[in-house]
Amino acid sequence: MKNILVTGGAGFIGSHTCLLLLEKGYEVHVVDSFVNSSPKSLDKILEIIKLKNSSIDPKLNIYNGDLRDKKFLENLFFDLHKNNKKIDGIIHFAGLKSVSESVKYPLLYWEVNVIGSINLFEIMKKYNCNTFVFSSSATLYVQKENSLLSESSELNPINTYGKTKLTIEIILKDIFEASKTNLKMASLRYFNPIGAHFSGLIGENPVGKPNNIFPLILNTALGIQKQLEIYGNDWPTNDGTAIRDYIHVMDLAEAHIDILENLFQNNRTFINLNVGTGLGTSVLELIKIFEKVNNTKVPYVFSKRRLGDACSVVADNSTLINKFKIVPKFSIEDMCRDGWKWKKKNPIGYKN
Ligand SMILES: NC(=O)c1ccc[n+]([C@@H]2O[C@H](COP(=O)([O-])OP(=O)(O)OC[C@H]3O[C@@H](n4cnc5c(N)ncnc54)[C@H](O)[C@@H]3O)[C@@H](O)[C@H]2O)c1
Repeated sequence: MKNILVTGGAGFIGSHTCLLLLEKGYEVHVVDSFVNSSPKSLDKILEIIKLKNSSIDPKLNIYNGDLRDKKFLENLFFDLHKNNKKIDGIIHFAGLKSVSESVKYPLLYWEVNVIGSINLFEIMKKYNCNTFVFSSSATLYVQKENSLLSESSELNPINTYGKTKLTIEIILKDIFEASKTNLKMASLRYFNPIGAHFSGLIGENPVGKPNNIFPLILNTALGIQKQLEIYGNDWPTNDGTAIRDYIHVMDLAEAHIDILENLFQNNRTFINLNVGTGLGTSVLELIKIFEKVNNTKVPYVFSKRRLGDACSVVADNSTLINKFKIVPKFSIEDMCRDGWKWKKKNPIGYKN
């Protein structure tokens, strides 16, 4: 079976994707520094597979290291090569992802996200790895009021995080164009992944105070914080709150496998692809659905709009659906239910 290297495989999206890769019989090699995750997420993946009582014998290898450390990557690939483990495909999740932190510590974000990626591209070239999937983001797009964002929409990120993602996309395209080899690359522009695996055993586990809305809703529902702060109730939307395109993390994880397998079957190709549901949900709608399906309360308070926030960020996902036949399956209700199950079982993440 093929060997897949997953950087950031212990993180939120990475752990769900590793689970599916293992379930499909791939041998998985996780590289993670655990700066924003716990190795316990990887134990839990094995537990889920075992609980299913399946006949699968999961082949999961874990390497604790930082992508900024060239020597670590050199040694890792050298050892893999020595042991006849040629890496057939790479899914590159590792990176820092907080927009607000990126504005405060720009150098850290350029170093981790861009230098770390360049190190990975160099080692890929050295060892002839030609199949690559990258975690990009909808933050690349110029946000247009109330229109869907397609892959050809204008790109111009306004924060350091988004700029690092766009820079990596540009580097990838340059590498692709300069090479004459059978390179297969996909950059997946995620919208807002939320929810958790149906078992409640793995989920989003940010180190420190969360930045994204869904972990904040979970913390509020559980009473870890008193109330949810909603930024702006004067947006030009039906209820005045901002609209986002939420996608279940299991749909997103599955999209990675589908795209990876599509690349395996194809020759030289470069894909930029939106991964979202194409459906917009306002913050108030999300809270109401969460309260209803989980029979709980999420107290909230309105505050001023944040600088740089957009009114509506929703994917035009027609390429995902029509060209790649990938159709997100799960509803906002599913996302709210599964996310709450994870949080209730693990109020302090993997620490219990
Ligand atoms: N979650 C989102 O809303 C979202 C949206 C769009 C794009 N993305 C991108 O998807 C990717 C995965 O996101 P996530 O939500 O799973 O984040 P996450 O923080 O849960 O996972 C990232 C993983 O990368 C690891 N990591 C960070 N820097 C590293 C380094 N230098 N070397 C090795 N490992 C390192 C972290 O420890 C963590 O396990 C990120 O690149 C993120 O920017 C996320």
